[in-house]
Amino acid sequence: MAPVPLSPVKVGHIDDVQELRNAKPTTIPERFVRDMTERPTLATALPSTSDIPVIDLSKLIKGDKDEVHSEILKLGIACEEWGFFQVINHEIELSLLESIEKLAKEFFMLPLEEKQKYPMIPGTLQGYGQAFVFSEDQKLDWCNMFALGVEPHFIRNPKLWPTRPAKFSETVELYSKEVRALCNNLLKYIAMSLGMRQQAFEEMFGVAVQAIRMNYYPACSRPDLVLGLSPHSDGSALTVLQQGKGSSVGLQILKDNTWVPVQPIPNALVINIGDTIEVLSNGKYKSVEHRAVTHKEKDRLSLVTFYAPSYEIELGPMPEFVDESNPCKYRRYNHGEYSKHYVTSKLQGKKALDFAKIHTKISN
Ligand code: OGA
Ligand code: NI
Repeated sequence: MAPVPLSPVKVGHIDDVQELRNAKPTTIPERFVRDMTERPTLATALPSTSDIPVIDLSKLIKGDKDEVHSEILKLGIACEEWGFFQVINHEIELSLLESIEKLAKEFFMLPLEEKQKYPMIPGTLQGYGQAFVFSEDQKLDWCNMFALGVEPHFIRNPKLWPTRPAKFSETVELYSKEVRALCNNLLKYIAMSLGMRQQAFEEMFGVAVQAIRMNYYPACSRPDLVLGLSPHSDGSALTVLQQGKGSSVGLQILKDNTWVPVQPIPNALVINIGDTIEVLSNGKYKSVEHRAVTHKEKDRLSLVTFYAPSYEIELGPMPEFVDESNPCKYRRYNHGEYSKHYVTSKLQGKKALDFAKIHTKISN
């Protein structure tokens, strides 16, 4: 959640997807209809191992030496080959996962006028509305979003913290504390899987920036024509995603040029590597492109936490990941600048990371 851009952006009228669906359940306005090449036709043949890896955090925290060792190897493979994994036994109370989910649903079910008390100004990323819209001709996602900057406190906009439903804001606070601890923990093990010191990321990141985004995807009469969320990689270091119980399957990740659906595991959290870790590891771990699709009858809710370094931090590939066979792929940059770039560009696959890519000349 970076600083607000200076010039207001002209985005035209943006329909609220829930209202649209209620008023005209079978109409898909042109602005939501994707070009042929972007439509979410699923490949019929999925990769042979089409389930993303599952990491058992309790083995990492409490396991014996062998268990820790083998789970760290598994984690390394998950980060290198998938950029995604699901974590089980993550130590966040089930009742907390349930209450945040219930409150998020209640929030989205409030009348539009109530939600619009917390408007997301176009070009910014906090409040209720559609994020990442920058022009009048840009296609829109079939999704309503509500997002808040959480940590450090100076990124908060207190006017955007809802008073209804009761307990919403304090539950976001509680939940965010738990997810922060989980991110810290996971980053320790991710560092170890890279052969680094446990505390390496924590020391490097300063006071980490944390934000939460709730995505509500209403059912859509033509899921073949629209996208719930455009393809993108996350601008964070790590992302933690909670999929609503009973929601449709909607998250898909791009693996070997195929969109692979992430099958929810009850009470597990989906974790993915963001752009920061890709840069720091010089591309060894990748922030894999992903998107969300919609469902004909079912709605879907996801609660997404982004965990990233402090804006002041300078980042670039760490020397241990650069050598003759792995030339440096990214320049050094300030993370605040990157965040600003990320939130002021439309979601477009991995394009945001071009900001940091070194385009090597091919010599002959
Ligand atoms: C995101 C995201 C996927 C989903 O918010 O960055 O990738 O399933 N969400 O909602
Ligand atoms: Ni994402």
